[in-house]
Amino acid sequence: MVRGVSVTLVTSLKQLLRGQPAPAGGRKQTSWPGLAAHYRSWLPVGDNTPIITLLEGNTPLLRAPALEKRIGRGVRVFLKVDGLNPTGSFKDRGMTMAISKAREAGATAVICASTGNTSAAAAAYARRGGLRAFAVIPDGYVAKGKLAQALLYGAEVLAIQGNFDQALAITQDLAERYPVTLVNSINPYRLEGQKTAAFEVVDALGDAPDWLCIPMGNAGNISAYWMGFQEYRNAGRSRKLPVMYGFQASGSAPLVLGSPVANPTTIATAIRIGNPANWEKALTVREESGGRFRSVSDGEILAAYQLLAGEEGVFCEPASAASVAGMLKHATEIPPEAQVVCVLTGNGLKDPTTALENNQANLHRNLAPEPGVIAQLMGL
Ligand code: F0G
Repeated sequence: MVRGVSVTLVTSLKQLLRGQPAPAGGRKQTSWPGLAAHYRSWLPVGDNTPIITLLEGNTPLLRAPALEKRIGRGVRVFLKVDGLNPTGSFKDRGMTMAISKAREAGATAVICASTGNTSAAAAAYARRGGLRAFAVIPDGYVAKGKLAQALLYGAEVLAIQGNFDQALAITQDLAERYPVTLVNSINPYRLEGQKTAAFEVVDALGDAPDWLCIPMGNAGNISAYWMGFQEYRNAGRSRKLPVMYGFQASGSAPLVLGSPVANPTTIATAIRIGNPANWEKALTVREESGGRFRSVSDGEILAAYQLLAGEEGVFCEPASAASVAGMLKHATEIPPEAQVVCVLTGNGLKDPTTALENNQANLHRNLAPEPGVIAQLMGL
């Protein structure tokens, strides 16, 4: 009994120190309050910040036995399944912060350029916070599910005959000239929110992993993870820092090549970016972590995408599979017994077209509605 009381007391004290109210009656809080409330003391959240939340964060860190088997040598692989956020991608982590801070500053409208996920998250959080949302997207290069989301969440979607880099230049220009807040990852609150994914990884593992594998587009997320790992290490929450491995699609690999790509191409449309906005930050991450930036082909991305679904039971979008494709490609560089976390940034349901066009399964159509016909095809 005494032990139970002291544990409750310590929990309440910790919550008080973090600026959170202790749960009524001293009972342990069981439901997740959203990342801004949970990590409040680590974030730029004040008494006057209206927290706009869909209870994002707290996503699974899932062991990946099929990948471990392939790599061998006692390497442990975990998947950070961030596609299980409310709008199906890691963008929700950044957007709860960006939209809350925009509301706090009195904004009434937000704008973003997007390959799809940012627009879905911006639209959802903006509308929940009572703000207008504008999304400038590359026409024809946004996966169907993402476009559907942005439209249904009530964003004004402006599709340009150009790529993401051009869309971002336009939105930056508009945000400077009109009263709309830019919510791309140049907005510092986005990275603040996204760094919580690194906190969650350390909270789950008890320390930072040895390697972190992550897809890169604008390189906001790799920068946010690094910020989170550093803050936790500096506060004594972890002993080490991971080596950061950033992966790009080979047709859209400016950070690997060291120069912008004018016409980026890849099946992984989420990371079809030729001139990343967080270029300098990404280089700092690579240098400070002793990391590497590498490219993976569309074929390698699709192979990892199918392997994740078919063997691990995890359906992510193609861009997310770049992290696993990269890990497998460079598996010999992983030290024995190392812990590796691969970030799966978005949900597979976002891009049904790619899934339907790239799978090994048989879809038997136009079958007569008779058990005999079905049984024959089942081959049992
Ligand atoms: N994975 C997914 C599923 C993404 O949607 C993105 C970026 C990335 C990885 C790369 O993250 O840009 O921080 O390096 N999507 C942005 C968008 C560009 O508009 O949704 P990053």
